[in-house]
Amino acid sequence: MALDEQIEQVANRLKTAQRMTVMTGAGVSVASGIPTFRGDEGFWKEVRPEQIATPQAFRKDPKFVWDWYDSRREKLKECSPNRGHEVLASWSNRFPDFTLITQNVDGLHELAGTKNVIRYHGSLWEVGCWEECPTSPHRWEDRTCPIPDHPPKCPYCGGLIRPGVVWFGEVIDPEVLVMSSQASRCDVFFTIGTSSLVYPAAGLVSDAKDHGAFTVEINTESTPSREVVDVSLVGKSENVLDQIELALSRSVSS
Ligand code: OAD
Repeated sequence: MALDEQIEQVANRLKTAQRMTVMTGAGVSVASGIPTFRGDEGFWKEVRPEQIATPQAFRKDPKFVWDWYDSRREKLKECSPNRGHEVLASWSNRFPDFTLITQNVDGLHELAGTKNVIRYHGSLWEVGCWEECPTSPHRWEDRTCPIPDHPPKCPYCGGLIRPGVVWFGEVIDPEVLVMSSQASRCDVFFTIGTSSLVYPAAGLVSDAKDHGAFTVEINTESTPSREVVDVSLVGKSENVLDQIELALSRSVSS
């Protein structure tokens, strides 16, 4: 089936959807100027994840880890939401029960105005005490950028603070797991711009399908989710989402 026919099919299905859940990954932010992780220009081509994104890496060299995260924050400061983020933000108002689960830590969905966002892998704009001192909250927002002294110190105990993102080898917040699992019981589930390689996030589309959801993938390349979903839309999320939104507006007004 041609892409525009697939888009009409998806838009038709959306007309009656009440409960909608969307999972996003790095591909959604490419049009905002943020690289993916595993693409040719991806972050994990520039540095190995075990040098940067593990508790062991932080223990060994917190300054090196903070240099990297601070430079990501500095670049991110200049980025704005793209058309894909905007369409998803409008869906968060259109559908009666909408959840957006994002693996992205850039905050662009929130900046676009999306309601009900679950940050599966945390946020680049949050930090936490590395020692987990009893007086500090688990995570708090800190938008200081650039951070003057690396590694920064905990204002509560004077120990180190860490980026508020989930690293390899760490568990996902149990509350996030429960909320995401509940959201996967939905009418329509989209997986957009993710390689579907990192679990448990990558398993949610199969959960949704097993519970009867109509499942759709949007990606420029083939991923393991293509075997799972009802419809695979091959293209850039910023374009494909715009086309679905157009088809949806046409069908609603006709
Ligand atoms: P990846 O870099 O693994 O995958 C990005 C996906 O986006 C690929 O499948 C691309 O084909 C696709 N893509 C690129 N441009 C696109 C566009 N314009 N429109 C649609 N799709 C596009 O990134 P993630 O799947 O997000 O975790 O990575 C998952 C996790 O691995 C990240 O959250 C991060 C990383 O390690 C942590 O840091 C814990």
